[in-house]
Amino acid sequence: MKFMKLGSKPDSFQTDGDHISFVLILLIFGLRFYADISLQILMFRYVATELATDIVVNVGDVKFYCHKFPLLSKSARLQKLVATSNDENGDELHIQDIPGGPGAFEICAKFCYGMTVTLNAYNVVAARCAAEYLEMYETVEKGNLIYKIDVFLNSSIFRSWKDSITVLQSTKSLLLWSEELKVVSRSLDSIASKASIDTSMVEWSYTYNRKKLPSENGNSPQWNGVRKQQTVPKDWWVEDLCELRIDLYKRVIMKIKTKGRVSGDVIGEALNAYTMRRLPGFSKGMIPNNDIVKYRSLVETIVWLLPAEKGTVSCSFLLRLLRAAILLDCGETERNELMRRISQQLPEATVTDLLIRAPAGEATIYDVDIVHNLVDSFMTHISQTDPVKKEFLESTRSPKFGPDASKVLVAKLIDGYLAEIARDPNLPVSKFVNLAEIVSSVSRPSHDGLYRGIDMYLKEHPGISKSDRKRICRLMDCKKLSAEACMHAVQNERLPLRVVVQVLFFEQARATTSSGSSTPDLPGSVRALLPGGSHGSSRSTTTNTEEDWDSVPTAEDIKALKGELTTLRLSGETNRNGTAKTDIERVAVSRMKGLAMSKIFSKLKSSKERNGEISSSDTSESPEETKSTPSVSRKHSLS
Ligand SMILES: *[C@@H]1O[C@H](CO)[C@@H](O)[C@H](O)[C@H]1NC(C)=O
Ligand SMILES: *[C@@H]1O[C@H](CO)[C@@H](O)[C@H](O)[C@H]1NC(C)=O
Repeated sequence: MKFMKLGSKPDSFQTDGDHISFVLILLIFGLRFYADISLQILMFRYVATELATDIVVNVGDVKFYCHKFPLLSKSARLQKLVATSNDENGDELHIQDIPGGPGAFEICAKFCYGMTVTLNAYNVVAARCAAEYLEMYETVEKGNLIYKIDVFLNSSIFRSWKDSITVLQSTKSLLLWSEELKVVSRSLDSIASKASIDTSMVEWSYTYNRKKLPSENGNSPQWNGVRKQQTVPKDWWVEDLCELRIDLYKRVIMKIKTKGRVSGDVIGEALNAYTMRRLPGFSKGMIPNNDIVKYRSLVETIVWLLPAEKGTVSCSFLLRLLRAAILLDCGETERNELMRRISQQLPEATVTDLLIRAPAGEATIYDVDIVHNLVDSFMTHISQTDPVKKEFLESTRSPKFGPDASKVLVAKLIDGYLAEIARDPNLPVSKFVNLAEIVSSVSRPSHDGLYRGIDMYLKEHPGISKSDRKRICRLMDCKKLSAEACMHAVQNERLPLRVVVQVLFFEQARATTSSGSSTPDLPGSVRALLPGGSHGSSRSTTTNTEEDWDSVPTAEDIKALKGELTTLRLSGETNRNGTAKTDIERVAVSRMKGLAMSKIFSKLKSSKERNGEISSSDTSESPEETKSTPSVSRKHSLS
């Protein structure tokens, strides 16, 4: 840190009891005397004086016993005060409103006596303001304090990165004065200019505890035995600015933005670093329970400062901000702005990012409505963007995501989110289904994620009605389940019969197709067998009621069904010359019908009351985790 030493005469401190007094050994006009000025407690002792003090200056609750001559020769204000004092000798003055208080007055007084004073970034602003108050101008005496401080500021403080920040921070208790004296604007300018400078010109020290640069790890591609000069990272300045209070921080960032030389990404990085540092619990999605007003204003300011361009901050950061904005009850404007930005960057989000707690008093754990709104506006936004503009937008941050890829990412994200919120026992089916339906138009390669969510929901909500069970299962396209998920699904005692039949059909169909990769669509005939299934609304000609199909089959039912289908497959394989496909289908339908009519439904009907307890079985895992093979016998007990 830069400092300036003024004066040369000694100044010694002496502790006296529970207060500190300092003894001035003054050599003025060849006269030697001691003046003991007591701080805090009004105590004054002459040690040895040949020249008595002739003025008492009261600053705050401190009395300064001084001499008129040195003070008045440098301070126009004190001259005037003495002249206009009510006190007949003008030897007791009160200057309660001096900026910087007793500490700053002491610096000025010592300067008047020519005693050693050291100015640095911490005390220079107070001294400058006090000197202004005391009117210590060049017109009063050459080489006066104001001039000396200004030279110090210009030639040292504002040339230094860290000192400029310290000085700016020190203006907080003296804001009006330092504003008036342009100390604030000059610090801001100094900081913003340095932050905007080409990084190759940065040759001062700065705080940087962020991610290591490749060159610092010694595995930089350019590293070839000679230690390369370390590259200054673009965001070298962001950490030091975290020291600033939010109002000053806001002004610095605005100034940096005005200069227009720092990219939005770096400004975004700075805002992220600042919020992490200044909002306790931010990274954990919590907020402090004190100083709500202060933190609310902080979050609102950060939102206000976000660079205009999309993608300059991460979606995860935006979602954390949103979470904080909700908890701190920030204004509608800020929340809407965050929602708008998040919806545009939604493909980058993770499930964890989206788990925003529901407001107090809501039955559900998470705020599903907010995610619903985000997905809704994402889908609207992406469908409204014209291709040319789209290309431009995509190129800003994540060029790898085209609009279609973005939609798939969001759909997958929502699948994962659904699986997470499905654990909430109070989550209504409608919220689950409505959210899933927004992305249902997006063609995803796999429905495994969605299946996992549905299965989780069924597992956690064993008591849901048949129609709800049907509604939720209809979200999924069994054709898009992986072999692994199918394996899980056919053993899943929570799924309605219609779904199991579909899954079984596709499982078998996939096995019969020689390519193995392309799965045929559900044949119209099988579709007809499944009334009101996910693949159409055509009513079945079968005599079975919908209710039967929505029932949950037992493990034995499934086994029987599977056996039937396997026979079909085997007979299909004997018929390899290509004419067989429709035959298989036909046979399949008739067999399934027969099966349904005879075996399963008689069973189901005879044990309808059992359905409630069937679903209480809790043995299946989600498809991603399952390691079981189809032959693994189920724990389900059927008495
Ligand atoms: C310090 O710098 C400011 C702004 O550049 C200038 O106006 C002022 O005259 C300078 N003061 C001194 C004492 O150099
Ligand atoms: C195909 O199989 C059917 C039934 O097995 C048979 O009648 C027919 O002649 C076969 N066609 C050819 C081209 O091999």
